[in-house]
Amino acid sequence: MNSANQSVKPITTKINENGNLEIGGCDLVKLAEKYGTPLYVFDEETIRTIAREYKKAFSSYPKVGLLYASKAFMTKAIVRILDEEGFGFDMVSGGEIYTAYKAGADLKKSLFNGNNKSFDELQMAVELGVGLISVDNFFELALLNDIAKSNEKKVDILLRVTPGIECHTHEYIQTGHLDSKFGFDLTQVDDAVELIVDEYKNLNLVGLHAHIGSQIFETSIYYDEVEILIKEMARIKEKYGIDLTHINLGGGLGIKYTEEDVPPSVFEISSKIIDSVKENSSKYNLELPEIHIEPGRSIIGTSGVTLYTVGSSKQVPNGKKYVAVDGGMADNPRPSLYQAVYTAEVANKPNIVSQEKVTIAGRFCESGDILIQETILPELEAGDILCFYDTGAYGYSMSSNYNRVLKPAAVLVNNSQSDIIIDRESYEHLVSLDVIPDRLKK
Ligand code: LLP
Repeated sequence: MNSANQSVKPITTKINENGNLEIGGCDLVKLAEKYGTPLYVFDEETIRTIAREYKKAFSSYPKVGLLYASKAFMTKAIVRILDEEGFGFDMVSGGEIYTAYKAGADLKKSLFNGNNKSFDELQMAVELGVGLISVDNFFELALLNDIAKSNEKKVDILLRVTPGIECHTHEYIQTGHLDSKFGFDLTQVDDAVELIVDEYKNLNLVGLHAHIGSQIFETSIYYDEVEILIKEMARIKEKYGIDLTHINLGGGLGIKYTEEDVPPSVFEISSKIIDSVKENSSKYNLELPEIHIEPGRSIIGTSGVTLYTVGSSKQVPNGKKYVAVDGGMADNPRPSLYQAVYTAEVANKPNIVSQEKVTIAGRFCESGDILIQETILPELEAGDILCFYDTGAYGYSMSSNYNRVLKPAAVLVNNSQSDIIIDRESYEHLVSLDVIPDRLKK
């Protein structure tokens, strides 16, 4: 069975009667006119469809926690959608916890994770009743125990471990290999467990947590990850008599940025995970654990596109043709950071057979601000609307105000309706946190 992460475009994308691209029943050219560009557009149907595919894919297994990795893209509206779909939230900062809380997420079903959580952030998680905290290191074990104690609570924790698996993704987004800044090395787990048992009486160890990497296409890697974690759980049971009931496998399922990308479906991933959990639990004589997963990109990536307006262009004599758009590395740093490749179409002329090789440049003051290197598109003119697919994950969430350019707005489309979910910044917003010390005032 296919799933929505295997499509380059949001599932409602089509060419409408005006000859323009349309998503969620909304004409992209009209959206650009109404809200301005750059504009992030999110298709609610694609988000809900993939969320339901995840639920269906794991429905045969008795105990599952589906957590959305908020870092991929989080706003209060997105929290509402995924909360309605029954998801909890994987959160990595006070800001993410606060957003989830303000939007009414079920924090009991959620998890706080990260390699250097602050006192204030841990305190906030404990006070607001975040269900699980994934403890990353020895420093945090002590800190969290103190916080739990002063709140007179016993906090359920997972230990974040590095299973020692390398996946074939960009090195910046690998996380499960041994030389990683995240989590306990497997050789450090015993020391951590002993501290919890002997000293940290306000911590209740319920399971293990790992995340191998992101934009993963190999399914076998999940099988291996489960095997390593379950073997470790069996070892802990044998040595300390502790029954660990939770196994959190992180996120990582890839999406299709270009036609060449062939990510597995949600169903292929879930069956690898479930098979491995069943086989290894029986092999090591453990009760079936509760499986948690934390997909981010595969939930939100495909649903989002970015609209840009074409502006200037430059033909290098005997060289490339550059066409510049009104956004770039500040609203999508992924091409310059990870050499990520995207697919674009012209929203106001999707039917024209492609005919020109162009490099799409951003508007920011860096030579490296290139959104797509040499792609074939219809001849572009100033005013054309370019639609970049698959910008839903790690686009807005990694955006900046580089060059003091305003962050774009984001709209949610569904059934021919469009609603703002993040306002466009204004120049007033931009200077709102600036302070001129009295001695510099004019
Ligand atoms: N869980 C943990 C512990 C993680 O560290 C991550 C992502 C996820 C879940 C979600 O992974 P996903 O399902 O989205 O692959 N900025 C990079 C991606 C960094 C991912 C970091 N961790 C990018 O734009 O490709």
